[in-house]
This record gives sequence, structure tokens and C-alpha cells, in this order.
Amino acid sequence: MAMGDFLPASTAAAFFVLLLGVNGAAAANFTFHFHNNCSETVWPAALSSAGRPPFPTTGFALPPGASLSVAGVTATWSGRVWGRHRCATGGGRFSCESGDCGTGQVACNGAGGAPPATLAEFTLGGGAGGGGALSDIYDVSNVDGFNLPVEVRPELLEQRQEGAAPALCRTTSCPADINRVCPSELAVRAADRGGAVVACKSACLAFGTDEQCCRGAYGTPDKCAPSEYSRLFKAQCPQAYSYAFDDRSSTFTCANATGYRITFCPAAAAAAKN
Ligand SMILES: *[C@@H]1O[C@H](CO)[C@@H](O)[C@H](O)[C@H]1NC(C)=O
Ligand SMILES: *[C@@H]1O[C@H](CO)[C@@H](O)[C@H](O)[C@H]1NC(C)=O
Ligand SMILES: *[C@@H]1O[C@H](CO)[C@@H](O)[C@H](O)[C@H]1NC(C)=O
Repeated sequence: MAMGDFLPASTAAAFFVLLLGVNGAAAANFTFHFHNNCSETVWPAALSSAGRPPFPTTGFALPPGASLSVAGVTATWSGRVWGRHRCATGGGRFSCESGDCGTGQVACNGAGGAPPATLAEFTLGGGAGGGGALSDIYDVSNVDGFNLPVEVRPELLEQRQEGAAPALCRTTSCPADINRVCPSELAVRAADRGGAVVACKSACLAFGTDEQCCRGAYGTPDKCAPSEYSRLFKAQCPQAYSYAFDDRSSTFTCANATGYRITFCPAAAAAAKN
């Protein structure tokens, strides 16, 4: 696996933009658009939170340059979405080198992904918007480590007025390929391809200490400070959660979304090109 394999797919690759019919209903279902801008196939997966409605799919293949729209996401859905990569079927079992959910199939069927994996987390309608409206809460998280660059962009019912609510409905992402700068003590390496780094553990995942995981005596925001390792993740992806109490700079809300666009390998941030 060469270092360049996360370079985004050619701009000539097909990129379908679906025009949504505006539903108008207050609690209309959401549409999630998935787009793969990586040069390799990504297998997105979804896991719903306990007690929440299911997501319409739990896993599918998305070739380089491809898009897929998932309609009918219930307005109260909560859960996580992540990408799996370097997947193959061997001995009748489907498995992935990162984000694998262990079902032996493309569908995760209620199983979570094995960390480390970059997560896009959602609680639709989980916050209070203005004027009695409900807002969605969303973030990109490297708390359990990183595997693929991901961007989450809200899609709005109407084009926002210039200057209106600039802090809301923002795009958030982890655009950098942290695998390239992953310290060896955090690196997950491929069994083949010269042991290329396929994912990067968080310090909590790698060392499991209360201090790194913000547990026990370190279980409150004032007791759990960023570590040397979480700072490395934060420098690469400033909008993404780098440790458990990284809420201030990593939680986003939107009251006006009709859906969300999730892009794997989005345009890389200038800061991450080193
Ligand atoms: C939302 O999805 C549910 C389940 O698929 C469906 O029963 C319902 O009619 C949908 N609602 C809207 C407003 O599309
Ligand atoms: C977006 O949501 C906010 C908060 O609920 C509301 O004040 C505003 O009118 C909404 N804007 C649009 C374009 O729907
Ligand atoms: C895909 O990656 C290229 C190169 O970084 C970038 O120019 C383009 O904007 C990306 N496309 C999307 C949809 O993020």
C-alpha cells in the first residue's frame, strides 16, 4: 500500500449531485448523501444508538468517485457512521483492515466497527434550536482513533441569508490523512504491502489508562487535559474530537438541515499538507 493511496480520486470521477424535493413537513425524514473522494473503495457503515430508530442501511460499498443517497433517515435518528477500507472476502467471510464490524458480511447489522476508525456522530433533533425548533448535533471524532479522512456537511432547506447564523450549520471534518503522521506506538499496520499504516489509534485505545481515556480520577473535563498524542490529532484535524472532553471546538449544531453529506477523503486542509 503506497503512501499516496488516500489521495482523492480523480476530479474526472463521477460525482452525482441529487436534487432533493423539498418536503416541507416539520419532521420530514432526512437524506444522507455519501460520497467517496478517495482513490480506493470505501465501505460506509452505520450503527444506531440504543433505543433510536434504525438507519436505512448498515453497510454498503462505495467505489472511488461514487455517491449514494440514503433517504428516509428518521428525524430522531442518532448514531454513528464510519468508513471501512481495504475490505475483501476470504473463505466466504467479508472483512476489512480498518473499521471492520465483524459480521463477515458487508452489512454490519447492528455491530459497531473495530477501532481505530474516524466516526461521524449524529443526534438528529437532539438539541434546542431557536424559536422552539429542534436542532441536530453532529461531530467528527478521533476519540477512538483515525482511519480515513471524513467531512460532514449539512444540507439546508433554504440557502442561508448572507451573514445569518454563521456559527450554525457549519461543515466539520477531519480532512488530513493522520495515518501519514501516526507515531509508531499508535500505528496499526497492514499485514502485507510493506506494513503500511492503515489506521492510527488514539492514546486511550493504545494505552487504555484512565488518564488517556478521561475515566476514574480523570473523569471530568477539568481533570482530563489534552495529551501530547491528542494534540497531534488536534493539530491535524482541528474541528474533530481529539479526546473525550474536546467538546468546545468539536460539537456542531444545525436546525435547518434536510440532510447531511458525508464525504470520504474531502479536499485536504492546507494545514495538513506537510
Ligand atoms: C419516514 O420514514 C418512515 C420509515 O421509512 C416512513 O414510515 C415515513 O412515512 C417517512 N416520513 C416521511 C415524512 O417521509
Ligand atoms: C433556521 O433555524 C433557525 C433556528 O430554529 C430559525 O430561526 C431560522 O429561521 C431557520 N432558517 C431557515 C432558512 O429555515
Ligand atoms: C476531492 O479531493 C480533491 C483533491 O484534494 C479536492 O480538490 C476536491 O474538492 C475533493 N472533492 C470533494 C467533494 O471533497
